[in-house]
Amino acid sequence: MRFQLTTILAFASATLTAANPTWEALQNWGKSSAGKSAPEHTSPRPSISCHPKTPHVSPHSPPTRTKVCYVNSHNDGVTDDSTYILDALHSCNNGGHVVFKEGTKYLIGTALDLTFLEHIDIDIQSYIQFTNDTTYWQANSFRFVFQNVTSFFKLGGNDVQIYGGGTIDGNGQVWYDLYASNIYALRPVLFGLDGLHNSAISNLVLRYSPEYYHFVANSTNVVFDNINIAGASKSANVAKNTDGWDTYRSSDITIQNSVINNGDDCVSFKPNSTNILIQNLWCNGSHGISVGSLGQYVGEYDIVENIYVFNVSMHNASDGARIKVWPNTPSALSGDLQGGGGSGRVQNITYDTLIIDAVDYAIEVDQCYGQSNLTLCLLYPSPLTISDVVFKNFVGKTTKKYQPEIATFACSSSSACSNIVASGISVLSPNGTNKAYCQNVDETKLDVECGGSYLGFN
Ligand SMILES: *[C@@H]1O[C@H](CO)[C@@H](O)[C@H](O)[C@H]1NC(C)=O
Ligand SMILES: *[C@@H]1O[C@H](CO)[C@@H](O)[C@H](O)[C@H]1NC(C)=O
Ligand SMILES: *[C@@H]1O[C@H](CO)[C@@H](O)[C@H](O)[C@H]1NC(C)=O
Ligand SMILES: *[C@@H]1O[C@H](CO)[C@@H](O)[C@H](O)[C@H]1NC(C)=O
Ligand SMILES: *[C@@H]1O[C@H](CO)[C@@H](O)[C@H](O)[C@H]1NC(C)=O
Ligand SMILES: *[C@@H]1O[C@H](CO)[C@@H](O)[C@H](O)[C@H]1NC(C)=O
Ligand SMILES: *[C@@H]1O[C@H](CO)[C@@H](O)[C@H](O)[C@H]1NC(C)=O
Ligand SMILES: *[C@@H]1O[C@H](CO)[C@@H](O)[C@H](O)[C@H]1NC(C)=O
Ligand SMILES: *[C@@H]1O[C@H](CO)[C@@H](O)[C@H](O)[C@H]1NC(C)=O
Ligand SMILES: *[C@@H]1O[C@H](CO)[C@@H](O)[C@H](O)[C@H]1NC(C)=O
Repeated sequence: MRFQLTTILAFASATLTAANPTWEALQNWGKSSAGKSAPEHTSPRPSISCHPKTPHVSPHSPPTRTKVCYVNSHNDGVTDDSTYILDALHSCNNGGHVVFKEGTKYLIGTALDLTFLEHIDIDIQSYIQFTNDTTYWQANSFRFVFQNVTSFFKLGGNDVQIYGGGTIDGNGQVWYDLYASNIYALRPVLFGLDGLHNSAISNLVLRYSPEYYHFVANSTNVVFDNINIAGASKSANVAKNTDGWDTYRSSDITIQNSVINNGDDCVSFKPNSTNILIQNLWCNGSHGISVGSLGQYVGEYDIVENIYVFNVSMHNASDGARIKVWPNTPSALSGDLQGGGGSGRVQNITYDTLIIDAVDYAIEVDQCYGQSNLTLCLLYPSPLTISDVVFKNFVGKTTKKYQPEIATFACSSSSACSNIVASGISVLSPNGTNKAYCQNVDETKLDVECGGSYLGFN
């Protein structure tokens, strides 16, 4: 088992190096060619296949588009290129191929409503950065109806194919510093999707998002493939809430073959996320692959169902697989994160093949999210049920944080949780134990040593 884990880890880190452009390469955009840019050209559209698991709906595969629109740029690092970008997107919408040219830098200083896109390829070969004007963005970014989420641009429409190998930089440092003095600052997410259908986003490098990297709302049949995410703070102010992907009111979404270095959920399924496939991810520094948090708002009914998570290697994380549900009593994690009392259901969720490397909890099912008083949580059981959940084929080692425990299954009542199965859990704590806290769950279905105590939440 130890040999197998080491082999898989070595393989994953080789993949990472290949996918990770060097900082020198990113800093030297345009410089290496001494002012001369590469000849204008289009990138071939990658052909995306989903394997080894296949999604419920096949990825959309439109015909090649022949009309080409190259995006102009001031290329000076200070002037907003938004008008040029909108011009190219409008000229090539409905059947064209837009190119952000190799060796050219683009700066975006205007919130762009890109929900008009139809039958278009967007080929990002170069470097796009958002301006650092936090006052402008807070006043003009797009507001989503969930958790004060906002975005630099809003992507929507039908049959949009984005690729090209380029980099999109959210200029996050100013936001990490601002957030340290004002937790209510509206930090934009890098990629805001609202109503995107039959589309694919692939082969991109995403850096320094102010908040989440992707918020996927009201979307169907979208594939994310080969996305490389990173962007730590360079000051003492940590980059917070940098989730890789959050899905919301969306179905038939696939996220695969990607490398994520972040500081919050690697992927998170927010209310009404259904038919989602996650496979072949390498996550470092995250809070795991999370269902929720759910049940945050009184009077709302949240659904997360038919989720398959396969082959994720999880490094330096608080959790591997996580399901977080607010209890049925008001609770608070922090000033800007509080809730409880909502209902709904979490159903048919599978986590299959997770490599656990320095993770606090390999598995965390928590129906007391945000509530440190367990007695209070159990007094007000959640009306949000969790059923038909499978955790299987987990290998590796946790951190010492919750030792001797490696997992927690904290349900607020025996009727709130049913058919939670953990099998093939070859995960040990550093001192060799595999204990778990098991509350209101059928212990015979759990391949861990129940009998641990409640150790709280992260
Ligand atoms: C914001 O960007 C401008 C233009 O690149 C730069 O001159 C300025 O120093 C930046 N401000 C901050 C706070 O980083
Ligand atoms: C999604 O669609 C609904 C219904 O059309 C709309 O009210 C909402 O603003 C859209 N966006 C989000 C983020 O939910
Ligand atoms: C949204 O912002 C308001 C005020 O700016 C704040 O009171 C609330 O807690 C925030 N909600 C979330 C979920 O962040
Ligand atoms: C989720 O779906 C349920 C059932 O259709 C609906 O009642 C609820 O309002 C939806 N929630 C959101 C946040 O869209
Ligand atoms: C698992 O994911 C890794 C990348 O993290 C990939 O190299 C490997 O081929 C995947 N394994 C399977 C069985 O797909
Ligand atoms: C993983 O994250 C840690 C902490 O941010 C960082 O020090 C380390 O370099 C990352 N590992 C890789 C391979 O990028
Ligand atoms: C459970 O979800 C999987 C996708 O992860 C799907 O293939 C399967 O049909 C679902 N089962 C039921 C009973 O809906
Ligand atoms: C985890 O973090 C430690 C430093 O805290 C680092 O040495 C190690 O390389 C990280 N693991 C991975 C896989 O990056
Ligand atoms: C937890 O809640 C219970 C029930 O309200 C209360 O009796 C107890 O004092 C609380 N414990 C703490 C540590 O606040
Ligand atoms: C493992 O460590 C925990 C505390 O970190 C301790 O309570 C337990 O006894 C240890 N178990 C073994 C087998 O060493």
